[in-house]
Amino acid sequence: MIHSPLIEKYLTQLQGLALSKQYPVLDLACGSGRNGLYLIANDIPVTFADINSEALGRVKHSLSNLTAEQQKLAQCWQVDFEQAGLAQKDTEPFQDKAFSAVLVFRYLYRPLFEQIKATIKPGGMVIYETFTEQQAQFGRPKNPDFLLKSGELLELFSDWQILHSFEGVVNAPADNDTQQAIAQIVAIKPGGLLS
Ligand SMILES: C[S@@+](CC[C@H](N)C(=O)[O-])C[C@H]1O[C@@H](n2cnc3c(N)ncnc32)[C@H](O)[C@@H]1O
Repeated sequence: MIHSPLIEKYLTQLQGLALSKQYPVLDLACGSGRNGLYLIANDIPVTFADINSEALGRVKHSLSNLTAEQQKLAQCWQVDFEQAGLAQKDTEPFQDKAFSAVLVFRYLYRPLFEQIKATIKPGGMVIYETFTEQQAQFGRPKNPDFLLKSGELLELFSDWQILHSFEGVVNAPADNDTQQAIAQIVAIKPGGLLS
């Protein structure tokens, strides 16, 4: 399980932001938790959220290899971000939750965009990376619902402080022979000490 180089690059900022368990980093649609686990190993509190209980089971198994103190920094949250009654305020998945940062890797559900922005504390960070429409020429996913349009992440976070933005074709992390079309953004929400 290789964590994203982006997480490593912004580790110091994330450590500065996520000082308390009250405002952990959310690894949204975490899968096996490759990115959140890297943060936990660097003493950053993380909430691992996914619909898939087996994926969360893998996260828990990986956590068992870390120290007892680090394990206390982790929370697992089984949630369906797409069926949580987005129209009804009292059943929104992020109700009463606030995060110092949200990581989203390889997951796209556009109705969640505004809620992701809202759940991050002022001065907090988003790190978002997923496939763009160009990906359809290389393989899955091919459904346009799961593919970013050109400039979509930049537009979404246009009112935030952009630390990093990329769109293009890269080698797949686990396989240098496979290409992937992705977009990335790292941005700081206005209103905090950093903005
Ligand atoms: C391609 S994986 C990415 C996993 C991880 N972010 C990574 O980059 O390694 C997509 C993840 O989204 C989760 N997912 C799909 N639909 C979901 C939903 N409605 N609510 C929560 N998680 C969901 C899947 O279970 C899966 O773990």
